[in-house]
Amino acid sequence: MENELFKQLKQEHLEVKQILSRIVSSPVDSRKNLFKELKINLLPHMEAEENAFYPVLSNKQDSYQSALEALEEHHVAKMVINEIENSAFESDTWLAKCKVLQDLLEHHIDEEESEIFELTRKTISEQQTEEIYNNFLALRNDYRGRMAA
Ligand SMILES: [Fe+2]
Ligand SMILES: [Fe+2]
Repeated sequence: MENELFKQLKQEHLEVKQILSRIVSSPVDSRKNLFKELKINLLPHMEAEENAFYPVLSNKQDSYQSALEALEEHHVAKMVINEIENSAFESDTWLAKCKVLQDLLEHHIDEEESEIFELTRKTISEQQTEEIYNNFLALRNDYRGRMAA
């Protein structure tokens, strides 16, 4: 049976992927709102993974290196997001950067849902996975609340 943590992460990944495909295929005048929607979904997700999920994985020898790699991908994604925010939204460069972000995140999500989930099943107990899930949700909701404020 699929655990709650994986179910939640997959659902959020799906939403992020859907917003990204809308961003790269929508007319210029919807870019700003869609990008805002992306940030509201993606940033709390990454923040909560970084603080509730990856510290547990990087504490285990078997998942240490993969956790570091995933965190670097978050770091690069945030750099690209920052650059997108500093580009003119109606420019071709803005769209090109969004496509790079899409590629990057699709790769990252694929690795999380295969390698990272597999390592979690192997190295983390069901009880601890449930704790990660609860911490993840609390941190994510808290960050989202602060973004909306
Ligand atoms: Fe994720
Ligand atoms: Fe992630």
